[in-house]
Amino acid sequence: MPLVYVTRKEQFNAAHKLYNPNWSDEKNEHIFGPCANKNWHGHNYDLWVTVKGEPNPETGFVVDLKDLSQLIRSTVIEKLDHKNLNLDVPFMFGLLSSTENLAIQVWIQLEQPIANLGCRLHSVRIAETERNSVEYFGS
Ligand code: NI
Repeated sequence: MPLVYVTRKEQFNAAHKLYNPNWSDEKNEHIFGPCANKNWHGHNYDLWVTVKGEPNPETGFVVDLKDLSQLIRSTVIEKLDHKNLNLDVPFMFGLLSSTENLAIQVWIQLEQPIANLGCRLHSVRIAETERNSVEYFGS
């Protein structure tokens, strides 16, 4: 049966800082650069969620993109948008707020709800800037 990959893009704005409390201020600034700014800063994040499955013979769809969009919004976007990743987002507590850690946690939030839609989560890609993005495939 043909396996088809379907991607939905969403966006959110959030504040954060990258700071390792085990290091000196100088080392944090050296490693994290502007992302170590003590008084926070923000990014306009892009999030791509790719799911995979076989087209439903009755609709031709792997997933109804309205349903997928609504699920992504209610499961992760509403918890991230206009929030502070270090202070406001329970699934990021205790983690460095890197894009890598964010992608892993978004995967964990989405995996089961997407399975409930009748398809499988394939990848979570997040871009913190136009030039930098990370992608997670669940392992
Ligand atoms: Ni940053």
